[in-house]
Amino acid sequence: MDVASVRKDFPTIRKGKGIYLDSACQSLKPDSVIEKITEYYSEYPACGGRSVHSMGTCVSAGVDETREKLSSFFGCDDPCEFVFMKNTTEGMNTIARGFGLKKDDIVVTTDVEHNSNHAQWLAMASEVGIRRKYIKSSKYGEFDIDLFKQQMSSRVKLVAVGHTSNVTGYTIPLKEITEIAHDYGAAVAVDGAQSAPHMSINLKKLDVDFFCASLHKMLGPTGVGFMYGKSERLKDLKPLIYGGGSVAITTYDSIKISSAPEKFESGLENYSGIIASAFALDYLLKIGMKNITKHESKLQRRIHEGVKNIENLSIVGSNDPDKRGSVFSFNVEGLNSHDIAMMLDNIGSIMIRSGMHCAHPFFISRGIDGCARASFYLYNNEDDIDKFVETLDKIVTKFSK
Ligand code: ALA
Repeated sequence: MDVASVRKDFPTIRKGKGIYLDSACQSLKPDSVIEKITEYYSEYPACGGRSVHSMGTCVSAGVDETREKLSSFFGCDDPCEFVFMKNTTEGMNTIARGFGLKKDDIVVTTDVEHNSNHAQWLAMASEVGIRRKYIKSSKYGEFDIDLFKQQMSSRVKLVAVGHTSNVTGYTIPLKEITEIAHDYGAAVAVDGAQSAPHMSINLKKLDVDFFCASLHKMLGPTGVGFMYGKSERLKDLKPLIYGGGSVAITTYDSIKISSAPEKFESGLENYSGIIASAFALDYLLKIGMKNITKHESKLQRRIHEGVKNIENLSIVGSNDPDKRGSVFSFNVEGLNSHDIAMMLDNIGSIMIRSGMHCAHPFFISRGIDGCARASFYLYNNEDDIDKFVETLDKIVTKFSK
């Protein structure tokens, strides 16, 4: 993979805007994506799926194209199984609310979920009376398949899991989990926000029932995500919101809902974002997902070696760098994670994230008040990693106890 040439495609890198190590939150955007957004606003800033005039037709065709690209990107053959959402959270909430769960139905998750696959279950427990079971993982979030098997029964209706943790970078054995869940008649819903940007994923082969991810973590524009659902699942799933575009016909007292994907896409959408997302997917395909995984794994090992001699540093995640994906979370004794993040930015223009990363229960249950997190992507190079390690070392030497 030619990282030097990749870096030339990202304006913030060309302009020397600093070392961006916060891609688990939001990725940088290449020129092709930015140009497509501008093209929408300057050439055809109209509505999709409704107006039959030339600008409207252009938008509708662009939206269809992204849907088709998404479908083939994830190894599927029916684009109608892909619904545009504003993010993973919206997708996971649509599944929670629309699946038809009733009092005492059991939903199984892990104990390391992001709030995108946690907060709605608490609401559903108090409002509907569903029961939630957590699969307890190891100290740093590794999945225990035997505990999972023990928790399964015919009363489990849904297994809702984060594929890759945004804190530890650990990826759960999704295929095995899905097979077990299906043996018990449970459906599987996946928060793929942290896996989809970094690895090759074939949803047909994985056989999951639902899968949500955010295109803004995959080089796409902000506020664009999707929910995948097997067509038979989407047929039964109720929409989260109702309105124009999602209904076939209404009278004063009746409503006929459209079929998927339209039934989940009420109101005007982020058309520029959706259309430009096709260019993000093209970019990832051009580089190759397997090459991206390999590159990130090389950077992860470099960090691992680099921080070995930094005193008082503890890794929040597996000690095996190959189990941390593209995320390096850590704490330094005597230093608050926000202070580390601010100092890295002030001293070295190095941007990382700090705090609890929307995974509060993970930290609270382990008695940790957060962590600093460096997360990298295809455009980061070894120099970025070395500068991060070097600056962190300086900070620790000067400020930690
Ligand atoms: N889930 C995003 C992150 O972990 C916001 O940074």
